[in-house]
Amino acid sequence: MVWHDDILSRAPLFHALDEEGARALRAGTEQVRLARGDRLFDEGDAGDRLYVILDGKIKLTRAASDGRENLLSVLGPGEMFGELSLFDPRPRTAAAVAVTDATLAALAHDHLRQWLTGRPDVAMHLLRALAQRLRRANDVMADLVFTDVPGRVAKALLDLAGRFGVEQESGLHVHHDLTQEELAQLVGASRETVNKALADFASRGWLQLSAKSVVILDRERLAKRAR
Ligand code: CMP
Repeated sequence: MVWHDDILSRAPLFHALDEEGARALRAGTEQVRLARGDRLFDEGDAGDRLYVILDGKIKLTRAASDGRENLLSVLGPGEMFGELSLFDPRPRTAAAVAVTDATLAALAHDHLRQWLTGRPDVAMHLLRALAQRLRRANDVMADLVFTDVPGRVAKALLDLAGRFGVEQESGLHVHHDLTQEELAQLVGASRETVNKALADFASRGWLQLSAKSVVILDRERLAKRAR
């Protein structure tokens, strides 16, 4: 079995561990493979495992009663999810769906809780990751109130670029794997408004659009628009 050790060691959980500690934690870990579109769990399900993404991308979504979806985040290799129900044993706060084929490392909450009691340094890393997530959630909430849709689109693209961007001569290639509908769900606006903003950015020469990816040509202007 391929364990993508380099990726696993980037995750907050494994970050503070020495080789022996990482090996011991890995021993309590199972590998899960998903095909694009597979639902790992739904909002409201009982949660008993935390996941670290080894390969691929996972989206976390919440649905309104009328069927509309809000995309909370798209996570890639080295990132974790499913920790809220670890620290606060209640149902899952969001659904997790594979945006691409994906491989995950799954850790049972029971095993982890025990493990963490003897490892305050690892617990600190997890707390840090939680604090970062809260900061980001606050930023997203403030943007929904204070920032217009083009500003939110610019910000979302820069965030995706920070996660999935690859610098090339022609620009910063961001293969986000999201449909236009999903991008709109991430920004919290209609598909039409988001498309208009993207088309406007493209016409100004700030980026190039293609299916499920974008090439950022002028990061500075985009960052200015995101402010
Ligand atoms: P849990 O509630 O166990 O299952 C859903 C997971 O989605 C949750 O744990 C978090 O890991 C993750 N999650 C929930 N809200 C957010 C958010 N706003 N940003 C990023 N991840 C989130």
